[in-house]
Amino acid sequence: MASLLIFTSIIFISFGSNRSNMFGCGTNKNYYHKAWNGNSWVPSKTTWDNMGGNFNWAPTAVTWPGSGNMVMMGVGSDGQMWSRNGASGGSWDSWNNMGGSFASAPASTSWGSSSMAVSGVGTDGAMWTSTNTGSGWSSWESLGGTFMAAPPSMVTWGSNQRSVMGIGTDRGVWMKTWSGSSWGNWQGLGGTFISVVIVISRGSGFMNVFGIGSDQQMWMRAYSGGTWGSWQSLGGTFSSAPGAVSWGSDRMDCYGKGTDGNTWHKMWTSSGGWGSWENMGNACEGAPAAGSWGSNQMSVGCTGTDGSMMMKSWNGTGWTPSGSTWDNMGGSFVDDGA
Ligand SMILES: *[C@@H]1O[C@H](CO)[C@@H](O)[C@H](O)[C@H]1NC(C)=O
Ligand SMILES: *[C@@H]1O[C@H](CO)[C@@H](O)[C@H](O)[C@H]1NC(C)=O
Repeated sequence: MASLLIFTSIIFISFGSNRSNMFGCGTNKNYYHKAWNGNSWVPSKTTWDNMGGNFNWAPTAVTWPGSGNMVMMGVGSDGQMWSRNGASGGSWDSWNNMGGSFASAPASTSWGSSSMAVSGVGTDGAMWTSTNTGSGWSSWESLGGTFMAAPPSMVTWGSNQRSVMGIGTDRGVWMKTWSGSSWGNWQGLGGTFISVVIVISRGSGFMNVFGIGSDQQMWMRAYSGGTWGSWQSLGGTFSSAPGAVSWGSDRMDCYGKGTDGNTWHKMWTSSGGWGSWENMGNACEGAPAAGSWGSNQMSVGCTGTDGSMMMKSWNGTGWTPSGSTWDNMGGSFVDDGA
């Protein structure tokens, strides 16, 4: 596989305040899911719904505000894309074979009330994408490029703008943007990375991309007002891919597993800029993944040293269970998305 640090096998998505869904790739190659319904974890805090399938790598999933409908997707051990539609009430359709020939886990993004796109690096090294605007998946389209066999990252950052980013064989970040009617050209954002990158949007017209550079520091580049700033080192010394999340235009958070074994957190506020690194304790084997389900609501999870999922959550005033300890959410997960 790619000689890049990869995301954890666990992801979070949310369709609204107080509602959270977690997915992960089990050591038995099945995908697993659990949901926070506003009051409790379903099926329970330490058990998971077995979604079946035969997967080597991390899932990706999308949901939409309001409806709570979900789609989880992944590249099977046959190299093909598989998707499964779910409803907020917990019922799932059967697995749908989307075909294709992929070399790594996919990325996805959603917009509007029912639209979504998924991308992955093909076995030919090019980026491939398919879009579903409510009436079924389009046929696979090659976006070209020459990428490492590692998961890309996708983001919707405007009413009809979305971008896909991946690490090229030159270890720089390459981006392509859908501008409303067509895909633009590949744009080199530069850098030299030892990890995959994650791109997030804190609001319309904003993108922030995070990755671990060849110096093992966290690097970030921001798009705002129609232009890219320069790469900025956020410091630290990391041995995992980054996690990053935003719950609104005035806040971003990023995470990484340090070479000291601890998971570290840094926040950005519009008034204070980037803060200092906060030690979140030593419980993660894999990279941290972050998700938010509303203003001041954030969780970070990882595959723990025993393979179960470890998680902690921020409620606006404090971490539960605490800044240095983690809740054991059960399961047996692969420790990276590779
Ligand atoms: C989430 O739901 C629980 C249970 O209904 C409630 O106690 C809590 O205040 C809610 N939190 C938010 C942020 O809405
Ligand atoms: C937020 O979490 C902290 C730390 O666990 C806890 O003391 C506090 O009561 C929580 N606040 C709310 C509103 O749930």
